[in-house]
Amino acid sequence: MTPLIDPFARPISYLRVSVTDRCDFRCTYCMAEHMQFLPKKDLLTLEELDRLCSTFIHLGVTKLRITGGEPLVRRDIMTFFRTIARHLDSGALSELTLTTNGSQLARFADELAACGIRRVNVSLDTLDQEKFAEITRWGRLPQVMQGIEAAKRAGLRVKINTVALKGFNEDELFSLLEWCAREDHDLTFIEVMPMGEMGEELRLDQYWPLKDLRARLAERFTLTDLAERSGGPARYVRIEETGQKVGFITPLTHNFCESCNRVRVTCTGELFMCLGQEDMADLRAPLRASSDDAALEQAIRAAIARKPKGHDFDYSRQKVAGQMSRHMSHTGG
Ligand code: GTP
Ligand code: 5AD
Ligand code: SF4
Repeated sequence: MTPLIDPFARPISYLRVSVTDRCDFRCTYCMAEHMQFLPKKDLLTLEELDRLCSTFIHLGVTKLRITGGEPLVRRDIMTFFRTIARHLDSGALSELTLTTNGSQLARFADELAACGIRRVNVSLDTLDQEKFAEITRWGRLPQVMQGIEAAKRAGLRVKINTVALKGFNEDELFSLLEWCAREDHDLTFIEVMPMGEMGEELRLDQYWPLKDLRARLAERFTLTDLAERSGGPARYVRIEETGQKVGFITPLTHNFCESCNRVRVTCTGELFMCLGQEDMADLRAPLRASSDDAALEQAIRAAIARKPKGHDFDYSRQKVAGQMSRHMSHTGG
């Protein structure tokens, strides 16, 4: 089996799959307040999702991340995790994981761990209850905290993903760091990307370049750049005084496209070759047209053959370029 290699010689070994466009929160940078959710018939069934993921694994994908919306609000999602986990047992998958808002983790952490999941990424932008309710529009922070604790008790490693937002969580930089050090969570900051329907001005107002955040850290601590990469987009530094490792995801100030190893599939079976580009391939049609995987494999290979070099996001010259109307909840981040 020839592995998936794109036109820029990048091997594609990482698949991100969104299993639902729904979420129980409405983070302002991710969704509109009143979202029109997709009709159920448009969504891939759990069986179709399994077949799709298994085909990618057959083509050489070794890391699978389940996203959404919020993956844990999809009905019966544990059935999917339990069955897809067979690829961990066979050794074909080296990692099965998910990115979640944490709201349902208290219910599912034990089962996730039992499936062979080792770590989860939890999106959390603030430790302040009121600010949490503001950014998620109606989320309850204690529910997420209970979820994170349940994950830890279940033996899952937790990575906190914090979108850096000027005027919103700048003042929590050190409290977030201290909390993660105390709880032994990994922590990664993300630059806000210009997606969704927010006006250009608001995005620029919110944009907090991570080089500024890093400079704030360096005023207080000694930072050492680490060479290691996670197979994901983050770059890491170590804080010498605490021994803590902090990740930076900087699609705007320092993009990581040259080492991109991933593609993503939406809950309706659209394959996006790049988070920051509109081009996509419909995989639902070949999935539903035949139970033979040959056409599906062919569609995947044809799509990978046109994976673009990178995104066009750009906040320079006081203007947001490359902005896309697609919501992050659609492609799963
Ligand atoms: P690990 O490194 O395995 O922990 O995962 P990850 O960082 O790939 O996954 P995670 O879901 O935590 O991703 C965090 C965020 O990074 C996403 O929500 C996006 O905002 C951003 N991101 C992930 N992949 C890409 C990508 O391919 N391109 C861009 N521009 N941003 C990405
Ligand atoms: N820019 C950067 N990150 C975003 N996320 C959602 N929308 C955006 C955006 N516009 C992040 C969430 C979560 C992940 C799935 O995507 O905070 O960590
Ligand atoms: Fe890959 Fe596109 Fe993300 Fe760049 S922006 S790392 S090419 S998915």
